[in-house]
Amino acid sequence: MAELRTEQEKADAARPIGVFDSGVGGLTVVRALMERLPFEEILYFGDTARVPYGVKSVETITGYARQITEFLLGRKVKLLIIACNTMAAVARPAVAERSAVPVLDVIDAGARAAVNATRSKTIGVIGTPATINSNAYARAIHGHDREVRVYSQACPLLVPLVEEGWFDHPVTRLTVREYLKPVLAQGVDTLVLGCTHYPLLKPLLQEEAGAGIALIDSAEAMAGITADLLASSGLATPRRAAPGYRFFVTDVPYRFQTIGEQILGRTLPGVEIVRW
Ligand code: DGL
Repeated sequence: MAELRTEQEKADAARPIGVFDSGVGGLTVVRALMERLPFEEILYFGDTARVPYGVKSVETITGYARQITEFLLGRKVKLLIIACNTMAAVARPAVAERSAVPVLDVIDAGARAAVNATRSKTIGVIGTPATINSNAYARAIHGHDREVRVYSQACPLLVPLVEEGWFDHPVTRLTVREYLKPVLAQGVDTLVLGCTHYPLLKPLLQEEAGAGIALIDSAEAMAGITADLLASSGLATPRRAAPGYRFFVTDVPYRFQTIGEQILGRTLPGVEIVRW
């Protein structure tokens, strides 16, 4: 780990990590970060008034991503994590060009983990239409290994089913079965859950995909990559006390608290509303 030398460096390292998503789904990443990095302060931004992003145009998603980036940079975060596959797929350059602090995203995290997991070099990816149409996963995977074959499937119905809390429901099972059919027919041995909502469907997805398929949860992969970056760049917090967490959202929609707490696995404390 890089040694912290000056008071300024210590103060910089004590700043929070900024994590953002189109809604509540990115809390899967926050949960993984809380478990892996228990002393790090986190600011979460969920654009709950404008979710879903996954069916919107590249221009619209990029504009939203810029706005959220400014918001978090204005709160002096030390690192930005794009915890939304859709924004990572189409708006990463727009976020990175505005940011003086490092930017990590779930697609790179998921791609790396998938390449490490596959034995047959055949990977399936499921995500929102915007993520799949962008081809960002295939590009990221090929950036690590050009020989891997990638089969992608857009699953537009899964986000609403998760938001309905139907994690193990016959309708969800049937929908998953339909979506997975063409991907499984290609003989993939690894399946990337390319949307922050999908880890909530992990048991069902594993049953439908079969025990022999490795499921890649980019939230877990993200926490590992974040820990490595903080350690190697001297940005790991010097604090050893329980950290503060702040949750900013643009609306408090129907069932927000319940879904948020299910995803986070703990009580969601005082949520702050941002009106643009
Ligand atoms: N958070 C988005 C993602 O990971 C899913 C929800 C949406 O469509 O906005 O792709």
